Amino acid sequence: MAEKKVIAVTGATGNQGGGMVRAILADPGSGFAVRALTRDPGSDKAKELAKQGAEVVAADQDDVGSLKRAFRGVHGVFGVTFFWAHFSPEKEMAQAGNLARAAKDAGVPHFIWSTLEDTRRFMPLSDNRMPTLQGKYKVPHFDSKGGSDHFFSDIGVPTTFLLTAFYFDNFVFFGMGPKRGPDGKLALTLPMADKKLPAIAAGDIGGCALGIFKRGNEFIGKTVGIAGAFLTGTEMAASFTRALGQEVRYNAISPDAYRALGFPGAEDLGNMFQFKCDFQKEYLAARDIPLARSLYPKLQTFDAWLAANKSRIAID
Ligand SMILES: NC(=O)c1ccc[n+]([C@@H]2O[C@H](COP(=O)([O-])OP(=O)(O)OC[C@H]3O[C@@H](n4cnc5c(N)ncnc54)[C@H](OP(=O)(O)O)[C@@H]3O)[C@@H](O)[C@H]2O)c1
Repeated sequence: MAEKKVIAVTGATGNQGGGMVRAILADPGSGFAVRALTRDPGSDKAKELAKQGAEVVAADQDDVGSLKRAFRGVHGVFGVTFFWAHFSPEKEMAQAGNLARAAKDAGVPHFIWSTLEDTRRFMPLSDNRMPTLQGKYKVPHFDSKGGSDHFFSDIGVPTTFLLTAFYFDNFVFFGMGPKRGPDGKLALTLPMADKKLPAIAAGDIGGCALGIFKRGNEFIGKTVGIAGAFLTGTEMAASFTRALGQEVRYNAISPDAYRALGFPGAEDLGNMFQFKCDFQKEYLAARDIPLARSLYPKLQTFDAWLAANKSRIAID
């Protein structure tokens, strides 16, 4: 039997990378084997990945040498960076640059870069519909990813630019799920007006990435946008109502009100939601649900994800 092609997966103990590891391990006929990258191979999560059949290798995105070693001999890399670990666009761009340089050095034949739009391509910093943040960004955690795309193309890393989407899982671990208001009723609060929010199960992103690797060179040099659903706040609230068995209403607030919520990252996320509303046409057009499903037939709809995850959503 032919030797399996190795895919190195960054963030393998996290949401996106973890999904990619699971997708490869669940598809032994795919011809791919997985090298799971982590800063700490001794952690419980890393040991669990090893137990399930992944090759676990130490690498830190702040250390380009560790990435070069981890990328040696692989067919592909799935690269994701971790904005919310530090909230620094500069740090995220430095880590993306390290990923690109290490891939070039190791001669990686196919890199999938998990990216998002640089929103400054849509509105200049002088556009004061929303505040400029950290001096030179509109949506810092988007801008630093889109602003890193050129690191890969500039030095000729064969790259697929994977435009991801809002995780359904944010309703669990980002605290964005329905909350009970003073009237005792559950409300889903988002600044999305009547616009659609493209979203996906975080774990399905890796499944789509595996689908891209399976299709060989087809998407090298291309941008692929994925989502599992395009839903309005009202439609998501209706799904929550059905899944939770109690009424959830959609509470549309203004981007200004969202930015003022005061939690770390509230301004960044308020700008993000406003960007998705103000540039709805372009944002939706960049993401393709049927293509995502063709890459990963197990792609979940919001209702399917809710049915499987409703017990994780804390409502009092
Ligand atoms: N939330 C959303 O809706 C959404 C949607 C699209 C995109 N994103 C983006 O997704 C990214 C986060 O991905 P995720 O959700 O998969 O992350 P995550 O679940 O928070 O995973 C974090 C992983 O990052 C690894 N890590 C952190 N710092 C590292 C470093 N310096 N070097 C190597 N590994 C490091 C950790 O692994 P070890 O501890 O094992 O090393 C950890 O498992 C963010 O940049 C975010 O902007 C989020």
